[in-house]
Amino acid sequence: MGSSSERWGSRVGLVLAMAGNAVGLGNFLRFPAQAVANGGGAFIIPYLVSFLVMGIPLLWIEWGLGRYGGQHGHHSTPGMLDVVGRSRFWKYVGTFGIFTNLTVIAYYTYIESWTLGYVWHTIAGTFQNASSTEISHYFDQYLGIRNGGVVNVSRQALFFFVVTLGLNLWILSRGLMRGVEIASKIGMPILLGFSVFLAFRILTINEGELGAVNDAIAGLNFLWEPQFDSLTNPKVWMAAAGQVFFTLSVGMGSIQCYASYLREKEDIALSASSAGWMNEFIEVILGGSIIVPVAVAYLGLDWVIANVGFEMGFRTMPTLFQHWGPWFAAAGGIAWFGLLFFAGITSSLAMGQPVVAFLQDEFSLSRERSTLVLGIAVALLAAPCILFYELGAFDEFDFWGGTFSLVLFALLESIAFMWVFGRGRAWEEITRGAEIRIPRIFSFIATYITPLFLIVIFLGALVKPIGSEWTSAFESLFAGDGWPLSHDSVLGRLMNVGLVDASAGSSASREILVRSGTRLLLTLTFAAIAGAIFVAWRNRRKEKSA
Ligand code: ALA
Repeated sequence: MGSSSERWGSRVGLVLAMAGNAVGLGNFLRFPAQAVANGGGAFIIPYLVSFLVMGIPLLWIEWGLGRYGGQHGHHSTPGMLDVVGRSRFWKYVGTFGIFTNLTVIAYYTYIESWTLGYVWHTIAGTFQNASSTEISHYFDQYLGIRNGGVVNVSRQALFFFVVTLGLNLWILSRGLMRGVEIASKIGMPILLGFSVFLAFRILTINEGELGAVNDAIAGLNFLWEPQFDSLTNPKVWMAAAGQVFFTLSVGMGSIQCYASYLREKEDIALSASSAGWMNEFIEVILGGSIIVPVAVAYLGLDWVIANVGFEMGFRTMPTLFQHWGPWFAAAGGIAWFGLLFFAGITSSLAMGQPVVAFLQDEFSLSRERSTLVLGIAVALLAAPCILFYELGAFDEFDFWGGTFSLVLFALLESIAFMWVFGRGRAWEEITRGAEIRIPRIFSFIATYITPLFLIVIFLGALVKPIGSEWTSAFESLFAGDGWPLSHDSVLGRLMNVGLVDASAGSSASREILVRSGTRLLLTLTFAAIAGAIFVAWRNRRKEKSA
């Protein structure tokens, strides 16, 4: 049975599911880390400009593409691009819309499962009376990381992963209205409640109170005081644009999928804007008011600047909550890890749905079977991320699946929709049934500025220099000293820059092996999806001619 007959039950359900797709771990862990690493207030202007000229137009493009594809019975990007493109080639571009979801969900559900594990440990009192060092080391113990980065699979991490994946699959197997929509209607209000509680508690911490060495507001000031000198720094622009991508979930294929369950004349303009702005509010206002201010209050701004990062949410936050006394510490921990869990699951459901829809539409599998296939694929792909977390497998998944592919796919789909399908038709798709008037300038922005912006980001990612120091990289190039390629650029990764030079023999070569093996696995995954598309279309042709 295809997924064509499914529809959203209500407008509220749709907007909450779309916002839930966008609001995720990125809002509470990645945004603060990126903002701090890029100078706090220096980050915010490039971030907002990227949101307006790239984020918002891409949202409309993806909603438009999705609703159009849905009218033709396609709820995943291969079929959608097939109907808007004018050659066979486009459906293969749609491979990205399955690939990104499948690879990101594999490592994303793993992180999601840590948050569930940490909710449990907060309730069980694991962090009570533990020192900050013990709490930080507990993270390694939880994941089973031993010295040298080899993971000695921890049973509890595996247990929480299986529970989290199982829960995702169960919700997906219930269908759109009875599964995803209900989960969003439950998850989003809880997440909001928890984050408002934490933001309020944290922002009212004053210096000298509950062991604080600073006013928490000092952290907020650091994030919010605009610094205009950053406007000429490409490093900050790249980071800001990357964050807009990740947080909105554009370039993934999940927005298109959710939008494909809309009716032909249902509004896109207002719903897409509402979901997008809701995500921004939760990211900038709530995401900015938790981890950075509380860490500044207890550890100081310099510590935060030196140590900020993704793992801080697990290694440091439980220690900070201890200052609040046992009951409030437990409430803080449950709210923090609980909100991360709900933020995570409403996003991972959106990553699972396109894969399920692809199998339903193009292979006529039942929803239950499609979910089962998804589960097996996710378990297989998550295995290297779990086993070789510290040796770079996780990082390779995040880079190729969760960063590089998003930009490339967004660029290609915006060309397909605005140029191949045509600017006039695309605009008519986006504005049909619109409940707000979108300024006409956005048609121009979506056609010219957004793809240009994406090309610049893409080229930048190819040759990103060490430390993203573009000015000194050009100086080095013109002085004849070559280009200082970063290990975190596309070319740098492919050439194992930084690792090849590492003098440490065995651990560097082990890492090269893991990273190269992971890239091979990702390439094979991509090829397998493209192969599945080939088979599906061949079968369809055969059916038609029979
Ligand atoms: N948009 C999701 C997040 O921010 C993927 O985590």
